[in-house]
Amino acid sequence: MTIQHPSFGDISENRVIIFDTTLRDGEQSPGFSMNLDEKLRMARALENLGVDVIEAGFPVASPGDFEAVNAIAKAAEDVVVCALARSGGPRDIAAAGEAIAPARRKRIHNFISTSPLHMKYKLRMTPETVLELIASGNRASRQLSDDVQWSAEDGARTEIDFLCRCVEVAIRNGATTINIPDTVGFSTPEEIAAIFETLRQRVPGAEKVIFSTHNHNDLGLGVANSLAALTAGARQIECTINGIGERAGNAALEELVMAIRTRHDKLPFTHAVHTPSLLGVSRLLTGITGFDVQPNKAIVGRNAFAHESGIHQDGILKNAATYEIMTPESVGWTKSALVLGKHSGRAAFRDKVASLGYTLSDAEIEHAFARFKTLADQKKSVFDDDIIALVGEENHLDAAIQFDAIKVQSGSERDAWVELTLTVSGAPKTASVTGNGPVDAAFKAIAMICENDARLALFSVAAVTGETDAQAKTTVRLEKNGRTVDGQGADVDTIVAAVKAYVHALNKLMTKASRRAPTELSA
Ligand code: KIV
Ligand code: ZN
Repeated sequence: MTIQHPSFGDISENRVIIFDTTLRDGEQSPGFSMNLDEKLRMARALENLGVDVIEAGFPVASPGDFEAVNAIAKAAEDVVVCALARSGGPRDIAAAGEAIAPARRKRIHNFISTSPLHMKYKLRMTPETVLELIASGNRASRQLSDDVQWSAEDGARTEIDFLCRCVEVAIRNGATTINIPDTVGFSTPEEIAAIFETLRQRVPGAEKVIFSTHNHNDLGLGVANSLAALTAGARQIECTINGIGERAGNAALEELVMAIRTRHDKLPFTHAVHTPSLLGVSRLLTGITGFDVQPNKAIVGRNAFAHESGIHQDGILKNAATYEIMTPESVGWTKSALVLGKHSGRAAFRDKVASLGYTLSDAEIEHAFARFKTLADQKKSVFDDDIIALVGEENHLDAAIQFDAIKVQSGSERDAWVELTLTVSGAPKTASVTGNGPVDAAFKAIAMICENDARLALFSVAAVTGETDAQAKTTVRLEKNGRTVDGQGADVDTIVAAVKAYVHALNKLMTKASRRAPTELSA
């Protein structure tokens, strides 16, 4: 059996559409915001990975979101570019339609809450008004795109009879994909399966649309719930790289596609994801956001294929299948992580940068290559992750505040002292400060030079790679007037990395166009 879809033509019964929402649901969570260039890089990597749909953003939310969706729509070659809009928000739908207009294949995604709790307290709307907005929203969207998705926000906690009515209205008014999110990650796999079975049995027209599942991970059930939805007839999964997303995140793309591939006996579905690219895309995202996945994260965590115990190592050497259910290579792990050293030339560096998913201009390559040479002198071995950290910094080298130099004196028997020099709008400025440790002193020096009263909300340090000469990768989160920004820095010296991260965050705070939290529709 096949189904006819405006973007995908005849889809065979077992083909699962992979709908990636890293750049929308993922990006809207604290700490994961990306600039235009970073979003474009992620979008290119996602298209190369083979996802079917990229949800690129929520254009009405801010001019920055609009611009990013629009740029992705222009850059996309074959992937469907999708923009989010509230059902019944005429400005939302117009902005979504305009942002995706340049894309060869495009989709508008309308949503509105349908649960009693959300309708009463969040929307303050009657069920009848919600039904009217579903109808008008989908009709308006169909004027702008043949491919229209409608989502029932908090759908998993919606009364099933009302959910059936909503889905019927959505289909009658032009939706071609129906998405039922577990917005708060509350449901169990059995409950999710029951929802899709009921909708497919009871709603007139259900056979003409693709059902989609979108599961948050508050109880750690995002992937299990998504797979349960497939067994009940859903054929689109909404997911994110590394499982990023609101609160505990969304179902992780890499886990879903590998579950389908590895357990094909139980999950007889197909998808178009090129699984050896999974690790690269995961690394690209952690490099951009500065947040690593936990070491034991399935598929892409650094321990995912590490066998520590002697018994396991012995088994693996005799036959890898004893403890490995998939090969490391099938998801992108390679044996040689060492990439470049101080004798590596410009061409090898350029190749490596491109293979990691970055597109740099000639001038940027020159600049990054000079910094790479300095790093290679400081560090025995330069790994992929070092290059990702280094290239990540290229994007903020023309910002208003620049790190120049730091001198530090510290020890267990006295206060730490730093002398810090920054260039602020072209002029060097120096401050000497003592503090409760070198990081405290360095941050006080920055505050003194830049006269800022932003609140430090988070400071984290991680090693980019192993070994004692590893680079430190630092993240600084600053908050000011309700705005939150994250900055990243990397250096073989932890204090320098910390200062770079603080300066990066300050630059963002000065330039970031505030994201307007879209107000809810009122009746
Ligand atoms: O979780 C959710 O309900 C959503 C919708 C906007 C699809 O992200
Ligand atoms: Zn969501």
